[in-house]
Amino acid sequence: MLDYEAEAAHYDETRGGVPRAAAAAGAVLRLLPPGTRTLLDLACGTGLVTERIVRPGLTVYGADAAHAMLRVASVRLPGRTVRADARRLPLPAGALDAVSAVWLLHLVPFTEEIVAEAARVLRPGGVLLTTVDKDASHDVGSDIDALLRPHRSHAEGRDGARRVTALAAAHGLDPAPGTRFTGHGQGATPRGTATRLRRGYYASWFHGTDTDAAALGAALAALPDQDRPRPEPGYRLARFVRRG
Ligand SMILES: C[S@@+](CC[C@H](N)C(=O)[O-])C[C@H]1O[C@@H](n2cnc3c(N)ncnc32)[C@H](O)[C@@H]1O
Repeated sequence: MLDYEAEAAHYDETRGGVPRAAAAAGAVLRLLPPGTRTLLDLACGTGLVTERIVRPGLTVYGADAAHAMLRVASVRLPGRTVRADARRLPLPAGALDAVSAVWLLHLVPFTEEIVAEAARVLRPGGVLLTTVDKDASHDVGSDIDALLRPHRSHAEGRDGARRVTALAAAHGLDPAPGTRFTGHGQGATPRGTATRLRRGYYASWFHGTDTDAAALGAALAALPDQDRPRPEPGYRLARFVRRG
């Protein structure tokens, strides 16, 4: 995983800024049942998405593990942020109407612990909204995708929709229709993808086989139009309802 203590300084400007955040927040709001009064945004990061979920009558909290990300979020959500690992939330069982997790599950190897913890803090009828298939959402048929796809297929699983749905069911969460949002400003460039590769974003794909990573880096560097963004991805937001 990237070092989010270091990412905080330039996170917003490199992740699609307000247009991406507004699209993600809009997707969360579309899936909230009427009457939802409390929501915890897990892995809220800088709070750019979280602050856009806030509505009259809906109290929105943010939790994140990284100090530096949370420092930015605490300005956007004064008094409503907490530093916490998503596996161990400082909340009693059944405390919340909704939990959201935008761009978290693809990052971590402990998907089940997070899903179980979200289920624990939701009341019966409460909803978990989470992105699934995040990296596969970038598969929009570009020349970059053609290079990444063989490596990505080995790594699928962390936030794979089928896997997350099975884990959710095992922890008392039933699937319900989800939605999608556009990753504004997230169209990949060859140079940007190579930089992410060097910075370790795809480390879990290679399991220490540096020669494969080096070959991918060389292939990315050979693509034309190094700074031209390819098409924007459409991210999936899945919904699960806590059984009564
Ligand atoms: C890609 S960012 C997403 C931030 C925000 N949800 C957004 O969409 O802009 C991932 C965030 O997950 C946080 N994170 C990673 N592992 C975590 C964990 N175990 N518990 C809580 N937060 C975690 C990181 O610190 C980072 O802020």
